[in-house]
Amino acid sequence: SSIDQSTSRPELTDFEGISMVHYFTDEWEKVQKFQARPDDILIATYPKAGTTWVSYILELLYFHNTVPECQTSLPIFIRVPFLEAVFPEMPTGVELADKLPTTPRLIKTHLPVQLVPKSFWEQNCRVIYVARNAKDNAVSYFHFSRMVNLLPEPGNWNTFLQNFMDEKMVFGPWYDHVCGYWEKKQTYSNLHYMFFEDMVENTGREVEQLCSFLGLSTPEEEKERITKSVHFDAMKQNDMTNYSTFSHMDFKISPFMRKGKVGDWKNHFTVAQNEQFDEHYWRKMKNTTLQFHTEI
Ligand code: A3P
Repeated sequence: SSIDQSTSRPELTDFEGISMVHYFTDEWEKVQKFQARPDDILIATYPKAGTTWVSYILELLYFHNTVPECQTSLPIFIRVPFLEAVFPEMPTGVELADKLPTTPRLIKTHLPVQLVPKSFWEQNCRVIYVARNAKDNAVSYFHFSRMVNLLPEPGNWNTFLQNFMDEKMVFGPWYDHVCGYWEKKQTYSNLHYMFFEDMVENTGREVEQLCSFLGLSTPEEEKERITKSVHFDAMKQNDMTNYSTFSHMDFKISPFMRKGKVGDWKNHFTVAQNEQFDEHYWRKMKNTTLQFHTEI
């Protein structure tokens, strides 16, 4: 009881075969029984793949002109509830989602596809999955784990990378996560699978494709405005998207909006780490048609 909850780190535990921390399983019953509505939009990602970026794009596409000031001035982590999250001093993701006043509801999850509450599939909800290449995803996850006390201590980069390869990551292995949703897409047509690298390369084109998937006829100049508003620099300055009001992060260690680049892994991987990683990667990914760019 003398442990300071604000600084202590949770342990990695096994949950339904997935490595987890209790912050994402404490209300599992309620998460599993979550009642999705047909117009809900689920934004699914492996942590650090561009969740906040695509969430904000969707928020602007749907609510830019329609939401009263009091709601646009809420941070993204309130406006787009993190479904399975049960964080200290905050309403749970399910509570936030149940109380969302707007339609559609935008809901975020990091759950691997097999753990997504079944009512999303039953209601044929639109699902948007964002994937990011493993190397940059690992680097981003490492820096994030250093600055947020809701995840286990990452150790040093070498330890973290080894854990990434050994699949000891919160929300399970990256490999299974990206492949799981890729497989799902073959049978579930309401799933839009997108890539972080494509968003960096051409954000406007990705906004275009999102509109087409969502059946939105957003005017051209509106889309251009949105593309500007979701630029890395704009989102870094924006207190609604940079997590500056989220109390469990230490921005002295690393900013949430850190770099937003493709290829930052080159500043972290040694030659030896890269060779070992590539070898392991091809073994894990040899049976999938899913392909990533690690530079643009
Ligand atoms: P880096 O740590 O590589 O900078 P998530 O939202 O899933 O937690 O992902 C966070 C990652 O997406 C961070 O990556 C962050 O900088 C990046 N990101 C967020 N918004 C972005 C934007 N508008 N443009 C480019 N990258 C962005």
